[in-house]
Parts: sequence; C-alpha cells; structure tokens
Amino acid sequence: MSIRFDEKNLVFYLNTPNTSYLFGLYAGRIPMHIHYGKKITADSLAMEDVYTYVNRGFSPVYEGVSDNDLPLEFPCFGSPDMRIPAFHARYQDGSTVTKLTYQGHRIEAGKPKLSGLPATYVEDEKEADTLYVEYRDELTNLKLTKIYTVYNDRDIITSTVNIENNGIDTVELLRVMSMSFDILDGRNYDFIHLQGAWARERHIEKRPVLNGGQYIDSKRGASSHHHNPFFCLAEKNATEYEGGVYGFGLVYSGNFIGGTEMNSEDQLRAYLGLNDFNFRWMLQPGEAFQAPEAIMTYSDKGFHKMSQAFHSLVRKRLCRGKFRDTERPVLINNWEATYFDFDEEKIVNIASTAKELGVELMVLDDGWFGHRDTDTSSLGDWYPDPKKLPNGISGLAKRINDLGMQFGLWFEPEMISHDSDLYRAHPEWAIQIKGRKQSVGRHQLVLDLSRKDVCDYIIGFMSDVLSSAPISYVKWDMNRYISEPGSLLLSPQQQQEFHHRYMLGVYRVLEELANKFPDVLFEGCSGGGGRFDLGMLYYYPQIWTSDDTDAVERMYIQYGTSMLYPTTTMGAHVSAVPNHQVHRVTPLKTRGHMAMMGRFGYELDLNTLTEEEKEMVREQIKTYKKWGQVIHESDMYRLKSPFESNYFGMEFISQDRKNVIVVYASVMGEPCDKYDRLLLKGLELDATYRDIDTGKTYSGSVLEHIGLAMKNDGDFVSKMMIFEKL
Ligand code: DGJ
Repeated sequence: MSIRFDEKNLVFYLNTPNTSYLFGLYAGRIPMHIHYGKKITADSLAMEDVYTYVNRGFSPVYEGVSDNDLPLEFPCFGSPDMRIPAFHARYQDGSTVTKLTYQGHRIEAGKPKLSGLPATYVEDEKEADTLYVEYRDELTNLKLTKIYTVYNDRDIITSTVNIENNGIDTVELLRVMSMSFDILDGRNYDFIHLQGAWARERHIEKRPVLNGGQYIDSKRGASSHHHNPFFCLAEKNATEYEGGVYGFGLVYSGNFIGGTEMNSEDQLRAYLGLNDFNFRWMLQPGEAFQAPEAIMTYSDKGFHKMSQAFHSLVRKRLCRGKFRDTERPVLINNWEATYFDFDEEKIVNIASTAKELGVELMVLDDGWFGHRDTDTSSLGDWYPDPKKLPNGISGLAKRINDLGMQFGLWFEPEMISHDSDLYRAHPEWAIQIKGRKQSVGRHQLVLDLSRKDVCDYIIGFMSDVLSSAPISYVKWDMNRYISEPGSLLLSPQQQQEFHHRYMLGVYRVLEELANKFPDVLFEGCSGGGGRFDLGMLYYYPQIWTSDDTDAVERMYIQYGTSMLYPTTTMGAHVSAVPNHQVHRVTPLKTRGHMAMMGRFGYELDLNTLTEEEKEMVREQIKTYKKWGQVIHESDMYRLKSPFESNYFGMEFISQDRKNVIVVYASVMGEPCDKYDRLLLKGLELDATYRDIDTGKTYSGSVLEHIGLAMKNDGDFVSKMMIFEKL
C-alpha cells in the first residue's frame, strides 16, 4: 500500500514512486506537517527527531503546546496559530473558533468520487489508495474528514476535505481550503503562476516568496483569463530541468484562491481552494459539504518533471469518455472567416474547399440562431435563423455530411440576451438582485444556474438541438463574467453560496449532457481561455486556448498553458493574416506548426488562399494526421522559453520512445545569421536518431550535449523536425 500509519510515532506516510508526503499527530493530537518532497525510505520516524519545538514569544499555549510554532497540516482559525487558516467557520453562538481533535483514520484501496464535483479518478482500485483522516470539533460536533489519494504509479497526491454537520445548529462555513501545508524554509522559494487577460492568457509570472501573504484568485464566477487555479513553489535555483518544484492545481472552474503566507521565522504556508471572499455556506444539521479536489506533485528535476506528471494525469485520469484516447477530427471554424455574416451557401462553400484539402469537421460558430446578426441579441433562442439557414440545422448538417464531413455547432448555453424570447418569457432566470439594475457584458446577462429549473431548461434545449441533427461536436462558449452575484431563489442567508452553487449547476448540466451524448465531442471555451481549468477538462477533453490566434502570441500562451495542461487539451487553429487580434503577418508554416501542438484546425475561409498556400494546407493536414496524435500522447519537453529568450522550442517523445518531434521558432529575426544552440532532452544517449526529412543521423548524445545549431532565418520563422530512433 502506498499509505502507511506508524502507530508508534503517530506518523502517516504517503508514498508515490519518487516522493513522500509525511504528517503526524504532534503531542498525540495536532496534525503536523513533516515533509513533502523526495522519497523517504525510513520506516519509523519520531517527529521530535526532525523538528525541534520551541515556544516563541507571543505564541499562546494550549495544553502545553503552541500550534503557532509548528508546521501544520490543516490549520483551523481560533487556536494559537495566528497564520492564515485552512478552515474558518461561524457557529450558532457567533463564535468563529474551531478546535479539531483527531478521531481516527482509515485507508482504502481506490479513490472516491466527489459528489457533484469533477475530480481525477482511477479505473482500477489498485491504481491508488485513499486515506481518510477524521477530526471533530467537540463543542459543535462538526466532523471534518481530510481525504488524501495517493497514486501508486504517478507522483501525484490529491487532497480534499468533506465536512459534516452532526450538530443541532447551522454552521456557517467561511473558508474551506482543499489543501494546506507548511514549509519551514520558505524564503528559499519562488512563487510561479499563470497570469493574463482576454487574448493573452496564462503567461508565466515568477516572484519571490516574501514575508506576509500573496495570492492569486478569481472573484469573477469563472476561473478566469486573469489567474489560473494553479501555482508552483520552486526552489530559488530551480530551472526547467533542475531543482525542487512543487506544483498545485485545483479541479474547479469558479472562484478560487491559492497563495502563500510566510511568517517572520520564514515558515511558509501554501494553500489552495474555493475563494473565501464573498463565500458563506450555511451548513444545516445533517448536511455535508464537499470541497473541490486539489492535485499536487513534487519534482526534484525542475518544472518539466512537474508538468509531465500533471500532463499524464490530466490526459488519462481527468479527461474522460470516448475522445480521451482517440484521434479527433481536424476542424474548420467559420468564426474568423465570417463572424455573423453568413448563410447556408457560404458555410457549405467554406466546407467544400476545406474538405478538398483534408479537413474533417465543419464547425458553425456564433450567429446561427434567433435573429443574431450582432452580439446584441438572441442568446436563449436556440432555434435556427431561417434567413441564414432556410433548411435549419438539420438541412445544413446534412449537406456537410454529404460532403463527407462531420458537423459541429456553437452554443453559449449559460447566457441570455435582453432581446430574446427567453428573456421576455423568463426575466427572472437571469442572475440578479431584486431592485438593482444588472450590468451587461457583451450586451448579455448570465442565466442563474444555481436554479434547478434553469439547469433543467438548458439540458432540455441542448438535448433537443443535439437530437435534431447529426451534430458530432459542440463548442460550449461563455463570454462574460458574473457581476451582481445572487439568486432570487436563495434565502438572504444563502446569497453568498451563489457562486459555488452556480458552478455545481454548470457541472450537473455538463455531466448529464456528457452522459446523454457520449459520441459528441465537446470543446470548452470562454472568450478563448477564460475557463481553461482542470474542472472543465473533466467534462470536455479540449478547450479553445485563446481568442488570440496569432502564431507569436500563441508561443507564449501555449508555452505557459503547458505548465499544467497537455497539448491534447489545447484547441489551436491556423487563422488568416494579418491576424485579427494583433494585425501581425506570420508565415503560414509557422501558424501551422503552432497549431499542430494543439487540437488542430483552421479558422479562416480557405477559399481566400492561393493555390500554393492551399497545397501547404493539404501538407499540414497530412502531417498532423500522421504525427498529431503522437504529439498528444508524447512526453513533452520545453526546450526554449519565449519568456526568457528570443526563441520557442518544444520537443515531444512518443510513448514508445521511437519518435522525437521538435518544433522550434524564432520570435524576432536577428542580424548576421546568428546561431542559437538547441539541445534536445530525454533521448537515449547511445541511440542513433534519423531526421526523417534530411536523412541525417545523430547520436542521442550529440543531440543532447552538442545540440543543433539553429540559424535565425528572420521574424516568426519556424521549423518542425521529426526524428526516428534507429
Ligand atoms: C468567443 C470565442 O472564443 C470565439 O471563438 C467565438 O466563438 C466567439 N465567442 C463567438 O461569439
């Protein structure tokens, strides 16, 4: 078993293949964090041997010990520990003090499902073990179960908490973190996370951990373009391939918070969970509250090993369904080709040329329903506009199928326009506070998915449309954040439950639709990557990475995204030049290479290309059909960071280690034919690798230690090299 309890010393050992996570019950009762990092092989360890307790000034003592002076495993507010707690609640008497006492634990094979929430999973009980540690607040009879799952063959540990109100009064949950643990030498770490904005998502940002607190969060009702529910703590000297790195991700798509707090003694606390800002959950007697799942990994070999552990987990034990392991169709999407200005003929025309060049799926984007000629109307009226589609969705889908292509359709199910039949019939379904005006975002309001009737309505209309025509793919968009949060149906005391209830509603809808339509490929989207997170990937296996389709912008966005997410999850399309977002002109070849490192497609009218360009498209599709799935199943190595150099480089090694695919690009051209040295990674040093285009052969040791001398051929120029091991 990967989990063990040392009865003598009261220490829990959680062991993955290369890491250990240890905590114990200090003084027989206080959950104390001991170690997370490299594997510990000792089988018996006394806490006193690895930690010297000192009672510092101004640390109050409770039954002989101050937990303010200990590294803690799951701190609750109100004890002598004055640092940021993992748990904070208000009780019937108005007090906010919780004192947990250890009640017992059990270790079980497998991994539990989390009620109503997405989570990583196992396919066989033997893949993981789960530890349930039970604590109780004596005064109120609140039961808190901290749940850890340890994967046997992955360096991954998951953490969550379940709270049961076994008392007789309502308990107000104010802060519930999914994971929290302390590190003694915090000053030696950097905090690395992904920040951005619409069309500039998930850029890597690094800052030192300093005294006091720092955090990333979302209060927007979605995980957001701005911060991703993910961060790393990395040793100061850590690089892509060296040094200790902790990675943490939250399997959640709504308001979250993740951060650190370091005290004056350099003790660092890291935490991740639901955002406690504007959160208050009224837990009634007899009810339970399930927190989202946090996933954690530790790498002793820099960021790349962290990313590889996450990539494999996301690919195989978070994403689900028929498309998890299969090739997915090369698609063309009409959005940047037509925006709202299209009709059936135009779409069939785009599709026919795309089909000739090898595209397999035609996706009809926004504007097909109600009278939506601009973004000011019709969200909620999910019936085809007869002006544009006289033969309806089924008529168009049939013509696309007759071309030999699959058909896909865009929806924005969580939204409602003022100018819609749905709003005229159900104004109360929009998120609102009685008596206050609502803000609009892109002229639209958000439906209140904390309501069961609204969720049922969405499941109903989506099922109707999906059953009415041969629709093989759905793009599920969400184009604004939530302001004026609240629900007409929630009691005054429950209004701050709204955001989490909204997410539970979204998850219920997605779960039902995924079960009902297992053959439909769902792609998530939120103005590009505004909800690109682990929660959503449980329901749809790919997400539109960004509305920015420029090849250079994508170097940064996809590189940053790859810290946590594998290429198989990233929608990436070749679009027209000048690019619609940044007006840059990049070579078609570079646009192709960047898109092939994601779920590949086109986002332009291919009829506008020259014959030579069309030929290149044909070749791109052939290349992707041959190597795309290999890329998506491969181990990824980041070779050159555009954030730290003038270059982008990524390498993919197939699971059988026989193929190596390298994509390399320059951001800007440099004068005097400057060379850049590209060192490959992860090869067998004694093996010989053949470049399948040039036929040249190289020893693995040459490719890794001498590398390839890459000549800078100008602005935005890229190259794809494919090697096979002989
Ligand atoms: C935002 C998406 O990210 C785009 O790809 C497109 O679908 C538009 N919405 C349509 O309104």
